[in-house]
Amino acid sequence: MSKVNVVLGTFYGDEGKGKIIDYLSEKADASIRCSGGNNAGHTINVNGKKYAFHLIPSSILNENTKAIIGNGVVIDPKVLIEEIENLKSNGHKVENLYISDKAHIIMPYHIMMDRLQEELRGSRKIGTTARGIGPAYSDKFERSGIRVEDFISSNFESIARENIENKNKIFRLYKKEELDVDSTIAKYKEYANYLRKYVVDSVDMIHDMLENNKKIVCEGAQATLLDIDFGNYPFVTSSNPTIGGVCTGTGIGPKYIGEVYGVLKAYSSKVGEGLFMTEQNNEIGDKIRELGHEYGTTTKRPRRCGWLDLVALKYAARINGLTGLAINHVDTIGKLDKIKLCVAYEYKGKNTMRFSTNNEYLKECTPVYEEFEGNFGDISNVKKREDLPINAQNYLNRIEEIVGVPIKFIGTGAGRENMIIVD
Ligand code: GDP
Ligand code: IMO
Ligand code: MG
Repeated sequence: MSKVNVVLGTFYGDEGKGKIIDYLSEKADASIRCSGGNNAGHTINVNGKKYAFHLIPSSILNENTKAIIGNGVVIDPKVLIEEIENLKSNGHKVENLYISDKAHIIMPYHIMMDRLQEELRGSRKIGTTARGIGPAYSDKFERSGIRVEDFISSNFESIARENIENKNKIFRLYKKEELDVDSTIAKYKEYANYLRKYVVDSVDMIHDMLENNKKIVCEGAQATLLDIDFGNYPFVTSSNPTIGGVCTGTGIGPKYIGEVYGVLKAYSSKVGEGLFMTEQNNEIGDKIRELGHEYGTTTKRPRRCGWLDLVALKYAARINGLTGLAINHVDTIGKLDKIKLCVAYEYKGKNTMRFSTNNEYLKECTPVYEEFEGNFGDISNVKKREDLPINAQNYLNRIEEIVGVPIKFIGTGAGRENMIIVD
């Protein structure tokens, strides 16, 4: 039976999932984005050129691989069209893109609502990407969302009119600017006309491929600690970026799932608010940020940086049933003289490996660190794990030992070629 390999984020996003998908999809027949929307920013570097994808699967440059936006995704059509046009202007054909008829559309009122909700939260704001993600998923579950199949049909106008008028009542209440009904509908009809040719019955397409033994990889967006159920609620996104979201976001049942690769960096980063146990809000954090170029792909915000947290990683391994780890930025951490690794939390005088998203529990925990030697030197062209300098090997071995999941990929630089594939 054909098995579907999955790539998921293990921390707070931006671990380098795009790079791993770019690599894996080269040998696959299709790749599928499962959840999230253009809150994601997945970067790949090919021949010195940098591409940032927000909605289009990171496999798109492999033109023989079908790139499918799955039903679990929320799509801002304007952003998607910009991404397609951008690829075209760089000489890419974009004929391998497919959009699920069951994905949901982000409308302008979702973006306006995202901003309004953050304003109302005041000091308890989440620090969302302000892309309308939460409100679009809320409408999906509240059953007033607009599916792609409706977006491209003659039903669109009446559904959109009713929705915009309802949302305007809320904006009026809060004395916010209202959305013009007719011009919004006209603009979105144009977007629908542009995107119509990419729309498919993704469930049927995916299962036809599986029945014909085609190879599929799934691209997670966001990450485990941003999961609506398993993350640091409320400082999370509004979807399930964990393994369950892969099944519901594509229509692929668990029996098809093969390898589940958890992507992490050799350190940690986070954007937005919320607890971050190993954060280094100091010179070390600043140094990691500069060395790793840790500024958001989507919002350009400086990312909060800190040490790698194996308690949280073990949690991600449990939740997702990880079968392999992909560790990026080993080159970056190796530029430091000394590296710290969080190997446990101290809770009420005892060391524990228990992670919980209960903020009260986390506030009582203190990270326990082990220190490692850095100065890995230039490892960007190393192709075998055993050829890495001993300091790098010691660090990686300890991660593997504590988490109990084998390392399958080691990132040694931002480029497509800067990667060690572990046998
Ligand atoms: P994603 O959202 O998980 O796909 O990750 P992002 O693209 O938002 O952030 C990862 C960043 O790290 C990007 O700028 C990548 O080009 C870069 N990157 C990925 N792997 C490596 C690595 O092994 N070394 C270095 N130096 N950069 C990397
Ligand atoms: P990729 O796929 C990093 C964060 C936001 C915010 C919280 C909620 O590139 O790893 P949202 O707009 O989703 O309602 O914001 O989630 N967030 C991400 N952080 N990488 C991402 O995606 C993210 N997607 C959402 O910063 O804290
Ligand atoms: Mg990102």
